[in-house]
Amino acid sequence: MALDDKPITDVHAAQREELLAGLLNPPRFINPKFFYDERGSELFERICELEEYYPTRTEIGIFNRESAAIAATVGAGCELVEPGAGSCEKVRYLLADLAPTAYLPLDISRDFLLDAAQRLREDFPALEVRPVVADFGAAFDLPEASARRVLFYPGSTIGNFEPAGAREFLSRAAALVGSGGGLLIGVDLHKSSEVLDAAYNDSLGVTAAFNRNILRHANRLLDADFDPEQFEHVAFYNAPAQRIEMHLESRSAQQVRCDGALLEFAAGERIHTEYSHKYTPEGFAELAAEAGFHARGCWLDDASLFSVQYFEVGSL
Ligand code: AVJ
Repeated sequence: MALDDKPITDVHAAQREELLAGLLNPPRFINPKFFYDERGSELFERICELEEYYPTRTEIGIFNRESAAIAATVGAGCELVEPGAGSCEKVRYLLADLAPTAYLPLDISRDFLLDAAQRLREDFPALEVRPVVADFGAAFDLPEASARRVLFYPGSTIGNFEPAGAREFLSRAAALVGSGGGLLIGVDLHKSSEVLDAAYNDSLGVTAAFNRNILRHANRLLDADFDPEQFEHVAFYNAPAQRIEMHLESRSAQQVRCDGALLEFAAGERIHTEYSHKYTPEGFAELAAEAGFHARGCWLDDASLFSVQYFEVGSL
C-alpha cells in the first residue's frame, strides 16, 4: 500500500471518538486541530492577514531575512519532514537556501495534502516531494530516511500543547530524527497582554468566527446540532500560565444533540477550544533540552515578537 494511500476511514472514526470524548468531559474541550475544516482553514488564512495578528507575517519576515543563516546552521542536503504541513506554503521561503534532498509533508487531509505537494513539485522540480497521510500525534510509518532528518514545525503550532504535551511532542520529534537529526521550529514569544489579547480578539471578528466554526465542524463529524451563534467567543492572555486561552461560552442554558447523546449546557458554561502558549527563547530551549535537543540557532524579528529556533539531537 502506498504511503499516501492509507484508508482515511480509520483516521476519521478515531477523530469522531476523540471529539465526542472531549465534549462529554467535565470541563468540556475540543482539540484545536478540529478548527481546520475547509471553512476553518480559510478563516485561519484571513486571521493571518489581520493587522492585529502578528505571528504569521513576523515568522515569514524572519524566514525571508534569515534563510541563508538558517541554511548555514541546519546544513544542506537534509530530509525535511513537516508534520501538519497543510498547504506546504511556509517551506517555500526556505527551499532555495536550505536545498533539502527530500521534503515529506505530513497531514491528515489527504486531498488537500496531495494537491499542495503537486503544486510544490511544479515549482521546485529538483525537489523530491513525498507526502504522507498521517496524524503526527498517532502512530504512523515513514519511509526509511534518505538523508539526515530535520523536522520542520513552523507557525508556533507547538504553542497548542500544554507543557506535558509539548515535552511529548519534542520527545517524539527527537526519536523521529534520531541522533544528529534536527528540529527547525517557529515559537511565538511572551509579550504584553495587550498585544496578545488584541491578536486573538480582532476588531473584524474573524477569530470569533474561526472559534465558532469549530462547532459547525463538530455538527458534521458528529451529526450534532450546535447553534454556533448561541456561543460567545472568549479569548484572553493568562499571563501566569503564559498562554492565550480560547473558549466558547454558552449564552444561555441549552441542550445540544450530539451523536445520539444529549449535552446539557448551563448558561456561561464553556467549551475550551485552544491554548496558545508563549515562550521566552530560553524557556523554550530548556523544554527542548529535556527531550535531548541542543540549541544551535535562534532568530528573532527586530521587535522580538517571534522566534525561529534550531536544535539538534546530540550524538551518543
Ligand atoms: C496556528 C496554533 C499558531 O495559536 O496563534 C490563531 C491558531 N488561533 N488565532 C495560534 C490561532 C486563533 C494559531 N496557531
